[in-house]
Amino acid sequence: MIYLTRVYEFAASHRLYNPELTESENSEIYGKCANRNGHGHDYLLEVTVKGTPDARTGMLIDMALLDQAVEERLLQFVDHKHLNFDVPFLEGINPSAENLVVAFWNEVEPAIPGPASLYRLRLRETSKNICEYFG
Ligand code: NI
Repeated sequence: MIYLTRVYEFAASHRLYNPELTESENSEIYGKCANRNGHGHDYLLEVTVKGTPDARTGMLIDMALLDQAVEERLLQFVDHKHLNFDVPFLEGINPSAENLVVAFWNEVEPAIPGPASLYRLRLRETSKNICEYFG
């Protein structure tokens, strides 16, 4: 089994906020991340696929097709967007790194070109903060 990781970048803004809690509860839980105007991140998303390389090409996946799937299913919706307001598949989701990586998996996984399959998504929100999901 071979694992191949492709790295993508996007910039987005968000606010950590649960509408079911009061303003002061949100601010207690999320600190300045709950501030009304939100804030931005330069996110890094690592997409890892697994499978057996094709005997003829020696390759696990056509990277152009993988790039296309990630762009069409994910990046076009989140890059330079506000994750609380602009992204249909994030509606009602508090855009923490934990919630984002699960929502991203649900969008990207069905579009991964076979016979490779999605193994892991790794979302780097800041230099100190990385979230992984294995489906
Ligand atoms: Ni943040």
